[in-house]
Amino acid sequence: MTAIAVVAGDGIGQEVVPVAQEVLALLHPEYEFYPVEIGYGKWKKTRTACTPDDITLLRGADAILFGAVTTPPAADYRSVVLQIRKELDLYANLRPVRGEGVDIMVVRENTEGLYSGIEWQEEDRASTLRVITRKGSERIARTACRIARERRNLLTIGNKANVIKSDAFFRDICIRTAEEEGVPYTTAFIDALTLDVLMHPGRYDVIVTTNIFGDILSDAAAYLVGGLGLLPSANIGDSHALFEPVHGSAPDIAGQGIANPVAAIRSAAMLLAHLGDTRGAALIDNALRLTAAKGITTPDTGGTASTREVGDAVCTAIRRL
Ligand code: NAI
Ligand code: MG
Repeated sequence: MTAIAVVAGDGIGQEVVPVAQEVLALLHPEYEFYPVEIGYGKWKKTRTACTPDDITLLRGADAILFGAVTTPPAADYRSVVLQIRKELDLYANLRPVRGEGVDIMVVRENTEGLYSGIEWQEEDRASTLRVITRKGSERIARTACRIARERRNLLTIGNKANVIKSDAFFRDICIRTAEEEGVPYTTAFIDALTLDVLMHPGRYDVIVTTNIFGDILSDAAAYLVGGLGLLPSANIGDSHALFEPVHGSAPDIAGQGIANPVAAIRSAAMLLAHLGDTRGAALIDNALRLTAAKGITTPDTGGTASTREVGDAVCTAIRRL
């Protein structure tokens, strides 16, 4: 029995995740889905956004389908996404950016760097410790090399080693790993790289980088392929895997039924591929293509359809394929 933990979360997570779950259930009626309530909404009710029991429920799943959670800008509120990534050791954040003339996989280190959570505040100073470990760098570099080999076998190591010592450490470990693995690589400074990805996306295959750089680079690259409403991601560890849209809870459009469910549906496709059903994943991709070709899209991508209508069209296309 395959068990899928479903965390809709906050804001538009509540709207796009049920659609993605429906697509999964259509292809795999035998899957068992169980909801796990996590997020700011839960915090408002109970003062806890994610309990140890919630983490246990997530650990019990074969895969986790995740929406988005709101992180309020309060000093004492810790991001739940960061907590989950750490607790389940989901060290590889895979963010494919695919579209017309663009096929890039951003492989972002997901557990340390500037998001290590080691922070403190004094009267006139706030500090965040950026920690890069050998173990953390090696395992993300290996993951990136493995993915590069399955794709066009070109690795770009995004870094800021010219200024930040911890990035020189990261870059050098990635270089050594790529050499060991026999994967051709180049290195590039992340600022210039971000511009070049936007100008010449065809030059890039797999880009491996540290936590915050990967976060920013993938959001920026979304510009190439129609925006945040389309980008899926996978958070992979050695024992657990979580699939979620790159976007957040989008409070500005939440509750209107117009959120683009494509990022969440594509995340569901990544979940299927991870569980070994590459045929199902390809079916979803085809159904998404057919739906977009018919002009059934939400307002963020120029259409007039609702979240539901896009979801229904994708399910109809899958039934016909
Ligand atoms: P966001 O991704 O939620 O929204 C940015 C912009 O993109 C907004 O204008 C939004 O309407 C639009 N957008 C995003 N997804 C869309 C979709 N599926 N369809 C149509 N339009 C879409 O990022 P923002 O505004 O910076 O953050 C909002 C909240 O989400 C914050 O509390 C933040 O902490 C949280 N967040 C959570 C993440 C997660 O759970 N993994 C990731 C990023 C942000
Ligand atoms: Mg982000």
